[in-house]
Amino acid sequence: MSPKEVVLRRLRESGGYVSGEELSELLHVTRAAVWKDVGLLRGEGYEIDSATNRGYRLVSCPDRYSPEEIGAGLETELVGRTVFCFDSVDSTNEEAKRQALRGAPSGSLFIAEQQTGGKGRLGRNWVSPPGTGMWFSVLLRPGVLPMRVAATTLLAGEAVCGAVREVSGCRAMIKWPNDVVSGTKKICGILTEMSAEMERVEFVVIGIGVNANAAAFPEALREKATSIRLETGKTVRRVALLQEILRRLEALLKENAVALTPAFLDSYKADCVSLGRQVGFQHNGREMTGMAVDLSPEGELIVRLPDGSLETVFSGEVNVQGFYGRKDPAT
Ligand code: BTN
Repeated sequence: MSPKEVVLRRLRESGGYVSGEELSELLHVTRAAVWKDVGLLRGEGYEIDSATNRGYRLVSCPDRYSPEEIGAGLETELVGRTVFCFDSVDSTNEEAKRQALRGAPSGSLFIAEQQTGGKGRLGRNWVSPPGTGMWFSVLLRPGVLPMRVAATTLLAGEAVCGAVREVSGCRAMIKWPNDVVSGTKKICGILTEMSAEMERVEFVVIGIGVNANAAAFPEALREKATSIRLETGKTVRRVALLQEILRRLEALLKENAVALTPAFLDSYKADCVSLGRQVGFQHNGREMTGMAVDLSPEGELIVRLPDGSLETVFSGEVNVQGFYGRKDPAT
């Protein structure tokens, strides 16, 4: 740990003033050197008050990704305990997969201010400009069968939905399987990828993109996308939201390690906007529409077709009437 990190940790622990004398003894340096470290922290955006005869006090922290900021107050055992931060990376999912092959531990977090090749589902791009969004991936080595990974992605959607509500007050909901929406527009997309053999998952990467503080979207996205800031009128502290997502994700992964629990399915259904709506999806290469009526115990979407029969949808794109500018779910 560098001297300035030691200063920061002590100021955080204290919550109040810490004397220059105490800090200089802790670091075995002069008080002038302590002053220099405080200056470095201020330069990074930490607001630190200094008062004669009292010392230094941490007033506020920058909303910037660093292992220290993310780790301070993070309430998890595994998820987010190893952090890889980037100013810019091609895709946090790609980086997570590269590091997974080099042995990065389960729970590792990969987070970037900007992605130059952000990936969406079905081969789409995910626009990931710097400063306002949250682009991150969590690597898991879950030891489950490949068929259970689809359920993992539902857990991530529920974790984001709950965290967004709690931290920002935004009325987030889930569009099955794992888009998080506010009103009829998307605030978060999730791309889950895995490396597996028939019987064994080597690793899973859950990539999460949250439109946190964007003030506007390009014309082409305006009908489909919104941000927490646009919905609530307030900027959200990204580090706080990230910590809450990670906390909820870890808890849900533990609770649903063997199978999705009835309690999880109940809360997911209550948060899911797709149920009770007309949906469009592809089945064996054919476009189909129907009414989404329920979830299976494995988390698949059950759709009543116009002839009254039930169809189970496992994954893929499910359009919901009225969402993302769609008047007809089949389009
Ligand atoms: C979607 O199409 O809805 C999924 C979007 C997933 C975007 C996130 S941003 C972090 C991670 N890295 C990527 O390249 N994609 C995911």
